[in-house]
Amino acid sequence: KRVVLAYSGGLDTSVILKWLQTEYGCEVVTFTADLGQGEELEPARAKAELMGIKPEHIFIDDLREEFVRDYVFPMMRANALYEGLYLLGTSIARPLIAKRQIEIAKLVNADAVSHGATGKGNDQVRFELGYYALNPDIKVIAPWREWDLTSRTRLIEFAESHQIPVSKDKRGEAPFSTDANLLHTSSEGKVLEDPWDEVPEYVFSRTVSPEDAPDQAETITIDFERGDGVAVNGEALSPAALLAKLNELGRKHGIGRLDLVENRFVGMKSRGMYETPGGTIYALAHRAIEQLTLDRGAAHLKDELAPRYAELVYNGFWFSPEREMLQAAVDHSQEKVAGTVRLKLYKGAAHVTGRKSPNSLYSEKVVTFEDDQGAYDQRDAAGFIKLNALRLRLLGRRDR
Ligand code: ARG
Ligand code: SIN
Repeated sequence: KRVVLAYSGGLDTSVILKWLQTEYGCEVVTFTADLGQGEELEPARAKAELMGIKPEHIFIDDLREEFVRDYVFPMMRANALYEGLYLLGTSIARPLIAKRQIEIAKLVNADAVSHGATGKGNDQVRFELGYYALNPDIKVIAPWREWDLTSRTRLIEFAESHQIPVSKDKRGEAPFSTDANLLHTSSEGKVLEDPWDEVPEYVFSRTVSPEDAPDQAETITIDFERGDGVAVNGEALSPAALLAKLNELGRKHGIGRLDLVENRFVGMKSRGMYETPGGTIYALAHRAIEQLTLDRGAAHLKDELAPRYAELVYNGFWFSPEREMLQAAVDHSQEKVAGTVRLKLYKGAAHVTGRKSPNSLYSEKVVTFEDDQGAYDQRDAAGFIKLNALRLRLLGRRDR
């Protein structure tokens, strides 16, 4: 029996690793993904070795470029927002982790995969729908749904009795649970559980407080091609480098904090705090370039599809025919979405201050209130309005 574990190197997944070895009698293969969470990954290797994992069974992969290019950007093309606000930073990372885990399982001939998500959340669903979509016969081990380590104290007892190092700050109750990658950091639980209590400043890790942001606004530009960002301030950047650059700018100006109560797929409401500095700027800029380049019919249809797309990503259906259908439609719409957006960053917010495009549908000649030299005949509007009013007048005559 061999199992590929999604391993962060933290306390919880270290306990899971040991538990799989001792309680399941499994040979464990660890997989640690660099998704830009901003943590050293070599300590995870050292810890895995310490727990007897063979060097050839320790996988540490830099997935940052693939994450932004093949997951974040396609989702941004759709303007996906869950429940109107959440940029889906955790949700969009799970299918990539699942995909790589299944690839590794094949490489090392493992028959099972395992993850550290709890039985109460969305992440278990996202991981496992990904696993099953990519390998219908894979076995899944979800320790949080099975074991009897149901409290922090028992988890730490188990760790100590198995020589797993427990850092001092983990001995007390962890104040909250976090998940981080290039797109966002999310925090949930503990000090955040009462939705009326304001989130303490120490929860934030990647944005300055808007109150402490510079008093001087900063103006930037983002260039787009086919619906994807390709440059910041005129400098061409790869997808991951572009998002990292926007994160740096967003951090400095305190942009992208979101305090949200959301509906989990499993049915409960949860309260979370999100920091999505670069993604918040990017999403706004993408909308701005679409304003110039998308036809109204295409744009409004996209707006109808966006909540559906977001719900599929949130609920873990990335590898589904319906998400792929929506993606095809979205991608088709982006062909002419190119140009430059100018934004002003100032104390917690990004503001669009200009946009231009070689593919613009905006016509100053048509829209001007000055003499348009016959570009638009105002007399046409009379019939347009009369026919649109016809049924309202018939109703009015009957009912008023
Ligand atoms: N509620 C968010 C989601 O479902 C984040 C979940 C993971 N976050 C965490 N702090 N463990 O996408
Ligand atoms: C978890 O349950 O492991 C984190 C929260 C979530 O997945 O919604």
